[in-house]
Amino acid sequence: AGPCDIYASGGTPCVAAHSTTRALFSAYSGSLYQVRRGSDGATTNIGPLSAGGVANAAAQDSFCTSTTCLITTIFDQTGRANHLTQAPPGGFSGPEANGFDNLAAADGAPVTLNGQKAYGVFISPGSGYRNDATNGIAVGDAAEGMYAVLDGTHFNDACCFDYGNGETSARDTGNGHMEAIYFGNSRVWGTGSGNGPWVMADLENGLFSGVTTGLNSANPTMTQRFVTSVVKGEPGTWAIRGGNGASGALSTFYSGARPNVAGYNPMHREGAIILGIGGDNSNGAQGTFYEGVMTSGYPSDATENSVQANIVAARYATTSLTSGPAITVGSTVSLRATTACCTTRFLAHTGTTVNTQVVSSSSTSALKLSASWTVVAGLANSACVSFESRDTPGSFIRHANFVLLVNANDGSKLFHEDATFCPKVGLNGQGNSIRAWGYPTRSIRHFNNLGYIASNSGVHDFDSATSYNDDVSWVVGAAFA
Ligand code: AHR
Ligand code: AHR
Repeated sequence: AGPCDIYASGGTPCVAAHSTTRALFSAYSGSLYQVRRGSDGATTNIGPLSAGGVANAAAQDSFCTSTTCLITTIFDQTGRANHLTQAPPGGFSGPEANGFDNLAAADGAPVTLNGQKAYGVFISPGSGYRNDATNGIAVGDAAEGMYAVLDGTHFNDACCFDYGNGETSARDTGNGHMEAIYFGNSRVWGTGSGNGPWVMADLENGLFSGVTTGLNSANPTMTQRFVTSVVKGEPGTWAIRGGNGASGALSTFYSGARPNVAGYNPMHREGAIILGIGGDNSNGAQGTFYEGVMTSGYPSDATENSVQANIVAARYATTSLTSGPAITVGSTVSLRATTACCTTRFLAHTGTTVNTQVVSSSSTSALKLSASWTVVAGLANSACVSFESRDTPGSFIRHANFVLLVNANDGSKLFHEDATFCPKVGLNGQGNSIRAWGYPTRSIRHFNNLGYIASNSGVHDFDSATSYNDDVSWVVGAAFA
């Protein structure tokens, strides 16, 4: 049985079921998600390998060979057509054309389920999915449940990495107009014990860790690599639950009365579905989504406990985040551009500015050092790498507003993330393309001889699709110095 078979047996059927990693009904063999590739704009739908099975990641890999791919649709598996697509502007606008949010990279969150490769949805700040015209999702004070499997190591404190019930206008229409799972370490509203991240409920104008937006010390920090998160609500009552998505049982972090603040009892839910954003399209948050559902009716704890057992049995596990020629931690390297204009140019820096410069064995030792980098374990994720400046130890290549800089490591979570890069096979067939860990749609690019993290088309000049594959492919060789 799949999670939605379990909910149906419990009398609380799924009315939305989303996953890029697996079918959530044992009989489901339809499409899980759609990807669009950068080379020609073509799309393809990815289904499970067999009914009820794991996604056909190999089909994605083959379709996306030598180009970029974005996740355009996450299909609803219930037959209600509650699909998730690129979120439109609302109270806040997204960074994409016409105020839409960004789409997620198709290869940003590789994992395995029972040893078979699949991809989750890696939400960077600015990304989000939504459906404002749903079928069967709870409105008003009607009973509903939901769960999501998330990455407990990918979060931030911005508003709001959510999955669940939001406003159909994408605007903040008041207290109680949403009821969604939130995951992150925002301290603006509720908090749990420790430093976070926490599973909370976004009920609009507040992230609730329990009955109030204050501290609920029964709500623990959840840093497991895979986190099962649960929120449910019915008239007068609601609950937050959570557990390790790879082992063990769910615990109840809160169960009881609705908040004693106007608007939350009864609830005024509107029945849109959001992923990776707040109800009003607040889009500063980040996180990774693997699977999730929304139900009609208030699931029993026993039903949810069976769903948790099913998630554990799916055996989510990590897999390599890198591909292509090895860029070995501890080595010192140079990175040579491969675009025809620029094959004598290497990634270098002048002060804090990252650029490309013509460097050769007869260059000055200062220039050689400025184009030489020490590879260290990724500051935010040791499965990837960071590049420390040879002439300025303690300073690293990082991005800020998508521009590459060489800055001193200030020890912050943001710096560590901005300085972490995951090499993959070079998009033009040479060397490596080096994607930003936190923005997997973006890779290190030279553009007018300056360094950026660029996507394959987009709103910035440096996102130009012209010569994208060449500009993001680098031959990694021995350091000059
Ligand atoms: O409730 C927290 C956030 O507040 C909601 O997600 C958003 O709509 C509002 O800004
Ligand atoms: O480069 C993109 C983002 O811009 C970085 O993560 C952050 O430092 C800045 O806001």
